[in-house]
Amino acid sequence: MDLIVVKTKEEAAKKAVELIGTELKSGRLQSLGLATGGTMVPIYNELTETDLDFRDVTAFNLDEYVGLDAEHPNSFAYFMNEHLFNKKKFKDTYIPNGKAQDLETECQHYEQLLAEHPLDLQLLGVGENGHIAFNEPGTAPTTKTHRITLTESTIEANSPYFESKEAMPTEALTMGISSILNARKIVLLAFGEKKRDAMEQFLKGNVTDECPVTFLKNHPDVTIITDLERLQE
Ligand code: PGA
Repeated sequence: MDLIVVKTKEEAAKKAVELIGTELKSGRLQSLGLATGGTMVPIYNELTETDLDFRDVTAFNLDEYVGLDAEHPNSFAYFMNEHLFNKKKFKDTYIPNGKAQDLETECQHYEQLLAEHPLDLQLLGVGENGHIAFNEPGTAPTTKTHRITLTESTIEANSPYFESKEAMPTEALTMGISSILNARKIVLLAFGEKKRDAMEQFLKGNVTDECPVTFLKNHPDVTIITDLERLQE
């Protein structure tokens, strides 16, 4: 595991984009796993400033709210279009469809697509409660793409983006822990003191479903980029 400590989010973004660029230029990046959330904004800002060419790369996103489509300004599909896909051309882009008629079939279909395009690199953030994607505490390490109920901690953290707390969906579709761990390389980004507990648990604690980010300890190639100092003391 590589731990890269930076001073600013912009510096972190440069490092993350450097890692992506290295994989891309070496021809090892066919399938790229992307994430949403405030953490990812500087990364996509940086990425769109480069001349990196993703036209041969298939992109997969981690998750989507149940009930929101790409037209909804709070959907993750909308976020991705705004921050990246409208500016950078990819071969194909996939995101779970939170408005699918049959959500169970949608999850199976998504997992099938992932099996056809094994992820070379997955960008990840972490929730204050240690979730990765929307795999909340208590999620089994064997999970594939599935439907989940969001915890109160996640609703608290994400509802400020919505008109009101009540307007925020309480369910989502998310890649599972096992879908994420299948990625060849994982780049985890964590900024700000709110993420310290989860990151300390990851770096110093045991692997436990109470803090899903700890499952990354079982992955052979994780790079952490963070502005949190003294994480390992
Ligand atoms: P954030 O979310 O980037 O908005 O902090 C990260 C996450 O919940 O995974």
